[in-house]
Amino acid sequence: MTGLKITGLGRAIVICAGALVGALSSLLLGRAHPFGNAGLYGPGPRYEPRVIMEHAGVPPAVREMLTTKCADCHSAQTRAPLYGRFAPISWLMERDIVEARNAMDLSLWEQYSAEEQEVFKAEIATLVKRRAMPPLQYRVIHRNATITDTDVAALNEWSRGRLVRVSDSPGQIVTEGDGMRGRDVFERRCTGCHAMEQNREGPRLRGVFGRASGSLAGFDYSPALAKAHIVWNERTLEQWLADPDALVPGNNMEFHVAKPQERQDLIRFLRDSAGK
Ligand code: HEC
Ligand code: HEC
Repeated sequence: MTGLKITGLGRAIVICAGALVGALSSLLLGRAHPFGNAGLYGPGPRYEPRVIMEHAGVPPAVREMLTTKCADCHSAQTRAPLYGRFAPISWLMERDIVEARNAMDLSLWEQYSAEEQEVFKAEIATLVKRRAMPPLQYRVIHRNATITDTDVAALNEWSRGRLVRVSDSPGQIVTEGDGMRGRDVFERRCTGCHAMEQNREGPRLRGVFGRASGSLAGFDYSPALAKAHIVWNERTLEQWLADPDALVPGNNMEFHVAKPQERQDLIRFLRDSAGK
């Protein structure tokens, strides 16, 4: 009898010790990062309110949803759970997070170009609608990350927004011009030669939308532009800004705007400020 008891106790000790060694080595192995280091568990408060896409003009419902259901993997603000310290869970988790941040980092949203944002918006809407994101392994643990029909509707609305055309080069999606962004581009790219109110190296641009080309008395146009007889509208300004020499060979404007989105924004700005 006693012999059996000892064996029973011994077995319990062996099992406990085994479990302890297992947990410890799992914890130790968790400090290795075979699939990339996502920098979780660093020093610093982990449960601060998360802020992503703060100045991106994203509708509140969409932002809230992306914050609660996507930001753990797709942002720098991951809330990593305690069990995530243990290998091999830690490895799988880190692999997902590193890959997800590489694919799309919502913490960097404002740094993506307008084109990139449009592509991501379309992808987000599509993947969420198909319930392909967040991944299953995440949803089974985080029940509040389940996608609702309201989420899908909000994303749809957000993603279609203001798409005007997809230009020839792949990945270049252009949205309707934005006058505020256009003013920015104008300040950065045009004011070296142009002002709104005065002629400088280039003619003044207040009211240029709807004006005939080369028509300002008191500005010394190139003969080519003076004789071109173009009316500046969406189409002609688009061509002019993309490649002045293609539209009016021999003109004097040594400048062009390579990005289609910037051209759309500029044209909107010039149109909006025409009457003022
Ligand atoms: C558990 C981590 C995890 C969560 C949570 C998660 N994703 Fe992802 N996501 C990934 C990984 C990993 C990839 C890259 C590999 C792939 O495409 O499957 C990815 C890729 C993507 C891509 C593709 C980007 C590209 O250009 O290839 C989009 C878009 C995306 N996720 C959107 C979302 C949205 C929206 C949510 C929230 C509703 C979300 N994800 C939640 C892990 C996650
Ligand atoms: C390097 C100087 C320079 C820069 C930079 C420049 N332009 Fe010009 N622009 C000119 C000159 C010079 C002319 C007159 C061309 C001629 O006479 O052939 C002109 C003409 C124009 C015209 C035709 C105006 C008219 O009265 O017919 C428009 C429109 C215009 N520019 C828009 C812009 C915009 C928008 C930007 C910024 C993206 C810009 N330009 C940047 C020099 C410049």
